[in-house]
This record gives sequence, C-alpha cells and structure tokens, in this order.
Amino acid sequence: MTKSVNQFQKPVTAKINNAGNIEIGGCDTVELAEKYNTPLYVIDEKTLRTICADYKKAFENYPKTNIMYASKALCTSAIAAILADEGLGFDVVSGGEIYTVHNAGADMSKVLFNGNNKSFEELNLAIDLGVGRISVDNFYELALLNTIAQSKNKIVNILLRITPGIECHTHQYIQTGHLDSKFGFDLTQIDDAVELILNEYGNLKLHGLHAHIGSQIFETSIYADEIDILCKELARLDKKFGIVLDEINIGGGLGVKYTDSDVPPSTYEIGEIIISSLNKSISKYGIEPPVIFLEPGRSIISMAGVTLYTIGSSKQVPHGRKFVSIDGGMSDNPRPSLYQAKYYAQVANKKETDETEQVTIGGRFCESGDILIENITLPKLDEGDILCVYNTGAYNYSMASNYNRVEKPAMVLVNNGVSEVILKRETLDDLIRCDVIPDRLKK
Ligand code: LLP
Repeated sequence: MTKSVNQFQKPVTAKINNAGNIEIGGCDTVELAEKYNTPLYVIDEKTLRTICADYKKAFENYPKTNIMYASKALCTSAIAAILADEGLGFDVVSGGEIYTVHNAGADMSKVLFNGNNKSFEELNLAIDLGVGRISVDNFYELALLNTIAQSKNKIVNILLRITPGIECHTHQYIQTGHLDSKFGFDLTQIDDAVELILNEYGNLKLHGLHAHIGSQIFETSIYADEIDILCKELARLDKKFGIVLDEINIGGGLGVKYTDSDVPPSTYEIGEIIISSLNKSISKYGIEPPVIFLEPGRSIISMAGVTLYTIGSSKQVPHGRKFVSIDGGMSDNPRPSLYQAKYYAQVANKKETDETEQVTIGGRFCESGDILIENITLPKLDEGDILCVYNTGAYNYSMASNYNRVEKPAMVLVNNGVSEVILKRETLDDLIRCDVIPDRLKK
C-alpha cells in the first residue's frame, strides 16, 4: 500500500542543508529562529497540500465524499485560506472558528457546525453567515435552533450527532463515541428527536447522522463498525418514519506518527476501508449510497508543523536526570502535560553524529509537570542551540495559553525557500490589551 504523508514523522521537505542545519520548506530553521525569534511555529505548505492531495486521492472512487477539515486542530486565517484553496470544507465548533474561516474566504456552504453546547449567539452567527450544516447535539439545541430559524424565517439544514457506542483505544480524554459520553444523542433517543423534527420543528431540515469516535486512532476496523451503525440507522429511520436521509458524517480521528512506536494507517488504507465498508453496508441495508462527510484534523495539519525553541539553562541533578530548558513549553504545547503526549525532536544546528547525551527537555513554565520530552538522546546541547520538535501542527497553537503571562509565539509559513508570517508574535501590550483597571484603583 502506498505510504501517505500522515505516516511520516517530519514534513516532506525536511532535510539537512549544506550548512549542516535542518531545512524545512527550503528555509534554514536556524535562520528562521534568528529572524523571527523563538519559540516559533513553522508550517510547511508543501506538506499540508500533499496531505490534502492524499486525502482527495484516497476517496476519488467515492465522489460523494466531503472532506471537512476539523478546524479545532489549528485554525488561523492563512491555514483556512490554504485548505479552502484545496477545496476542503470545515468542521467548526465555535463562533471564533466560524468567524475565522469566513474571514479566510471559505465557501460557507461547505462548513459544518459541531458542538455540545452551542450558544444562541453562535447559532445566530452560523445562520447569518450561511453555514451549510449544523450537527445538532441534544434536545435543548433542537428547540433553540428551531426558534432562531423561525425568527429569521429560514430553514436550517441539520444532522443529528449520535453516540454510536463504540470505544476506541486512545487516551480517555480524546474518546468520544462510547456510550457514557457527553456528545450527541444516545441511539435510544434518535426516534424522539426525529419525531420532534418531523412534527414540531418545521424550520429544521434533517439530512443525516453524524458520529465521531475519538482521536489519534490507529484501528481501521472501528470505522467499519461506525459506518455499519450509521447506515443501519438510516435504513431503520426510513422504514419507521418514511424519511430518506442521505448523509452520514463519520467524524475524524486518524492518528499520526509522533514517535517510532506510533504506526498510523495510511489515508489510502483508511479510504479503502471506509469505501468498502460503506458499499457493504449500502447493500446490506438496501439504502441509496449516502453522501459521506469526513472531519480529519490532526492527520491533515500535524505533520506540516514543527516548533523551534532555543536552549537555555541546563542542570544535572546529582544522582538524577539532566534537565535542559527551552524558552517555551506547556503554554505553546500543552499536550505532554495534558495527555502524556510524546514528541520527537532534533537539534537544528548539530549533527546526529556529534557526541550525544540523554536529557529531559523541560519547559520554562512554573510547574514540575511542564516537561516537553522525557529522556531523549540528542547531540550534546549548549545554550543557544535550536531544538526542532516535530509534529506540532495540530492541537499546539490551537490549545496554547498565556500561562505565566507569556506571549504566544509567532507562526510562519514556509515554501520554496520563502518564509511568511501568518500569525504575529504576541507582544507585552497584547497581554494587557483586555485588562481594565477600575478608576478607583488607578494611580
Ligand atoms: N470531528 C469531531 C466531532 C471532533 O470532536 C474531532 C476532535 C474531530 C472531528 C477531529 O479529530 P482528529 O482528526 O483531529 O483526531 N486536543 C486533543 C484532541 C481532541 C480532539 C477533539 N475532537 C489532542 O491534542 O490530542
């Protein structure tokens, strides 16, 4: 089976250049660090576009496929502009994501709004900006959305988010499809929801069902199980209510290779499994081939991103570990402290053949848990060296914070030797921009 880029550990353009430094997108990462300062998020445009091409090719035999990038993985205007240019739609989960993809010029009819507690304001914004589908999560939202749609005299196109009762083997915090989940309608509640839509909520038009099982998934069989459940429900609802629903959304979740022990299936393999199980379920339940939505996030953006850090202090704990500190950490990448996530890194300005040592990379934040990488063997590190951490495109900037009142890093897009800022580094003034000192406290 052909490899696809989600199975790589580094961007497709990563190499060692003549200066002996890591180069990405034709740009020397040591020069990027000098020019833009660190920590610095770097996104390789070629990797991102190659992954989009992989996905489109993997599903070309099922033309009714809509690939909706899960914006929660990384949502900035430039990233959205690239993905819109690749023809992808967007899965969005907040007013902020809706606003960003709209700002990027996305075709809003290819946007799908998810979430278990969408607000009145967010639902209004979604309708006003022409979001194509809203995946309704619960009874409260059905009523709220119908009222808003009615007040605007509009028909809103919806899916029902369901909990298929499938458990996947990933970190407990990123499982979503199991029975006792906060997301979606339980299978036993679907009929009540459909009855309400058909009999009472005249401003809602139901097109199909949506599920998402979890994230960083390596088991392909899970998608076959999910598709079977969704198709079975389409057939059952047709029989019971005489409604032909022709859309299923199977969510995202395909894993990536953070470390050597992660072995994700290729997008081609996933494409084959999804299409063949879809065809099987179509004939098993005697339904028309539905439109299928996919919502990959991590597997689209993760590999395209690396983060550059500068090495600062080092300390050998007597009879303990050697800690080397970087100028970032849990505020720009909270994943190690949240999910015990593992990352692979190299030193951008040193050769792998140099003398090595085992170190633990600590962040700069005031928490013992702020450890970016435990026990990694790297060329001996000195102050000022540049560390390049791979696979940081997904869920790094999107989950970044200003913990310890530290400015969020800049992000640059690299391609063919050109680097462009797509996110400015925050300044001290940005940090106090929303602060208000009541008059009585002013000096
Ligand atoms: N669709 C829905 C409804 C989702 O909830 C998610 C992710 C996705 C699609 C995209 O899943 P992906 O293809 O990226 O696995 N912050 C965590 C991941 C949380 C994922 C939440 N939902 C992490 O850093 O691992």
